[in-house]
Amino acid sequence: MWGKKMKRRKDLVVKALRPFGTSIFTEMTSLANAHGAVNLSQGFPDFDGPQKVKARAAEAIMAGPNQYAPSIGIPELRHAIARKMKRFYGSEVDPDEEITVTSGATEGLCATLLGILEPGDEVILLEPCFDTYAPISALAQARIRYVSLRLSDFSLHREDLAGAFNPKTKAIVINTPQNPCGKVFTMEELTFIASLCEKYDAYAISDEVYEHLVYDGRGHLTLLGVPGLRNRSFVISSTAKTLSMTGWKQGWVVAAPELSRAVRMSHQNIVFCGQSPLQKAVAFGIDSPDQYYTQLLADYTHRRKVLCDALQGLGFRVITPEGTYYVPVDITPLGFDDDLAFCRMLPEKAGVAAIPCSVFWENRGQGRNLVRFCFCKRDETLEEAIRRLRKWLS
Ligand SMILES: Cc1ncc(COP(=O)(O)O)c(C=O)c1O
Repeated sequence: MWGKKMKRRKDLVVKALRPFGTSIFTEMTSLANAHGAVNLSQGFPDFDGPQKVKARAAEAIMAGPNQYAPSIGIPELRHAIARKMKRFYGSEVDPDEEITVTSGATEGLCATLLGILEPGDEVILLEPCFDTYAPISALAQARIRYVSLRLSDFSLHREDLAGAFNPKTKAIVINTPQNPCGKVFTMEELTFIASLCEKYDAYAISDEVYEHLVYDGRGHLTLLGVPGLRNRSFVISSTAKTLSMTGWKQGWVVAAPELSRAVRMSHQNIVFCGQSPLQKAVAFGIDSPDQYYTQLLADYTHRRKVLCDALQGLGFRVITPEGTYYVPVDITPLGFDDDLAFCRMLPEKAGVAAIPCSVFWENRGQGRNLVRFCFCKRDETLEEAIRRLRKWLS
């Protein structure tokens, strides 16, 4: 009897989620904590965002009301997001019809995918890809088609992508700048994606959480600005990385009115609404002067250089990221060939934690030589990590 009960419990996780297991971020952060390692694995800063924004949140909590926000987000925040889309990208967005505030980009992705995918629809994921896209698509009972970026330079080959699109394709998920490889999609690549979306009447879901971390003067290209995609794309972002407050989980989805309706239908049944006092603070934070955004990028440009130079000096082959706050490195020059084994050993042996990149591929055979370190840390934290790695390697 007991045995039978146990068996039922073991199978309680829905079939769609069973292949995925515990997130690598949870695993590596736990390992880092267990060994007192410098945590360069999960992508959260070890500093908080602007004091003024935190003060706004505290004021909003104390002044109240601390009650449900409108499901689509408070008007103040939706208007701030619309102003931001105009200020940075020249995109005109209707704050009432085209913006939905979500609990982080993660919920935005979830609301979008669950809102538009029917069982049997196909969704294209460009791998390596962020670890939530596949489980959410699987929950929606969509069929996932993976298209791999070329390992040599993370470029997207036209024939690979064209071969994946077909009449059942409902959507493609794009992440630019991309986690974990730091790739920034070019206008040429995005235009090609647009042409396939138009040809197959498919939608583009674009995760742009690192939109303000694009280096070397390249500038971020939002999918909303790509010809042909204005009315076919769901642009998802959040303030996790931009305001350096990942714990606030404040995100949004920008999409044409009829597309936003699908997002809103599922969003209202996932969380109904986001956190009202934080939304006020985020509206204030998004409206920060250009100087804030310029300084953010300058600080990250500096951190990128510090970490890339040091890792290069230690013998890794460094792939300098075009965007994001992650640097992927090839571990083979140091004699390692299994990223997962390397990252499981690193916290204990070296006192530093990192993320194995192969988990971002469906087939772990790819990317096994790549490990991702994050540089969203104070200088002293990066220096300590470098010091520990140097000591271990020597
Ligand atoms: C590509 C990507 N999308 C989404 C998220 C999660 O964003 P949020 O914290 O706003 O849910 C992350 C966080 O690391 C990410 O790297």
